[in-house]
Amino acid sequence: MNRVELIRKNSEFTECMDQINKFEKQRIYCGHDLPHFLDVARIAYIFNLEEDGQIPKELIYAAALLHDVGRAEQYKSDIAHDKAGVEIAQRILHNCEFTNDEIFIIVKAVRGHRGCAGGDKKIGRPEENDILHSKALLLAKYIRKADKLSRPCYTCDAANSCNWQDDKKNLEIIV
Ligand SMILES: [Fe+2]
Ligand SMILES: [Fe+2]
Repeated sequence: MNRVELIRKNSEFTECMDQINKFEKQRIYCGHDLPHFLDVARIAYIFNLEEDGQIPKELIYAAALLHDVGRAEQYKSDIAHDKAGVEIAQRILHNCEFTNDEIFIIVKAVRGHRGCAGGDKKIGRPEENDILHSKALLLAKYIRKADKLSRPCYTCDAANSCNWQDDKKNLEIIV
């Protein structure tokens, strides 16, 4: 079984997904579910191909599956989900056969998918490892851009009351 499938079937991951699903039952805005994660994975992978980013596909998919894993904590305790997701993602990745270097890169992308990747020095290893660090920032950038681009605002009934500013919304198909 590939390691992305290990994440999908991981008990902590499925528990988080069940909780997010319950919290979002009545939500009229974009949800945080497996179809969203796969949209993000595929778009991020396209960026990786277009820019020759050379991030392994499995790492991109792992980061995409885990980038919103802290959402339930946000609903419960009002902790920002990019922050809440860090420890959860670390535990899941350790249990899904990822190496420490891979976990560093993926977790940094989870933490950075809303724009905090550069500033957080507390995650994982010291930053003297420039290659690892720049890969982590690149993956965070791909996930962040893919996350935004994945949302079909042009067809969303709730777009008028969504708190995204109009200039951030996807109001037309971008080619
Ligand atoms: Fe998010
Ligand atoms: Fe997301």
